[in-house]
Amino acid sequence: MIEVIGLYKRFGELKVLNDLSFTCEPGHITGILGRGGEGKSTLIKMLVGAIDPDEGEIRIFGREIRTDDEETLNDIRRKIGVLFQHAALFQNMSVRENIALPMVENTELDPKIIDIMVKMKLDQVGLPDFEDYLPRQLNPGMQKHVALARAIALEPKIVLYDEPTSGLDPISSRAITKLITDLNQVLKMTSVVFTNDPGSVMEIAHKLILLHHGEICFEGTPDEMKQTEDPLVRQYINGDPDGPIQLRQSREEYEQSLLGSNL
Ligand SMILES: Nc1ncnc2c1ncn2[C@@H]1O[C@H](COP(=O)(O)OP(=O)(O)OP(=O)(O)O)[C@@H](O)[C@H]1O
Ligand SMILES: [Mg+2]
Repeated sequence: MIEVIGLYKRFGELKVLNDLSFTCEPGHITGILGRGGEGKSTLIKMLVGAIDPDEGEIRIFGREIRTDDEETLNDIRRKIGVLFQHAALFQNMSVRENIALPMVENTELDPKIIDIMVKMKLDQVGLPDFEDYLPRQLNPGMQKHVALARAIALEPKIVLYDEPTSGLDPISSRAITKLITDLNQVLKMTSVVFTNDPGSVMEIAHKLILLHHGEICFEGTPDEMKQTEDPLVRQYINGDPDGPIQLRQSREEYEQSLLGSNL
């Protein structure tokens, strides 16, 4: 369903992704793990054709994703829902208007039908009757649920989740994790969860991929990850400050990463 083949991406001197290859199976939940700055959001941007890789290829439903192929992008983008890292809701629009937006922009549906669809989506994410609220009247967990309702508005085949649990308390975090599993099972969506929070996907993913320095340092089932003796993977899942993953960067490396991000 999603094939990533020999992907490279750099920003100036900063090498972000380095010969990355993996696949995401239809109907499965794939967890892509990696610390901050490992290139998770960059990868999502490439999957939806917002930016091109420097080298390598992305294939979704067997079609190559390239920024200059508008026809394929328009077709594929309708089949992909994205839950953005920051809920990215329009603050001056009601919950109803936020969720309706993709349907208004991409379909010819009658406003009354759209209204019913909005209610259905809110039901699916566990927030019935919240249509008239403004995003800021909701807590961060509820905002993520609304953003998710918007992401699934066009009934996509694939949902990409960028840090779905970041900034959430443990209960909201569990709720969103449960929702990811429910949507995956009930709506048979292929889900890819990009996260820095291994605990959130350990119990729900069929496959986990850990990125380190732009490369895949582990790929396997959650059980295989729990059992691995690889010190780097163990350090990551245990959140241990000591081990092969260096917490501190040299000043040169830090400056380099700032230059890479055009700050
Ligand atoms: N448009 C850009 N121009 C320059 N540098 C960029 C750009 N986008 C991302 N970067 C840099 O690329 C690296 C990877 O960024 P990215 O946002 O993909 O990481 P991430 O894994 O999503 O991190 P986080 O967990 O913080 O969300 C970072 O060092 C970032 O500063
Ligand atoms: Mg990110």
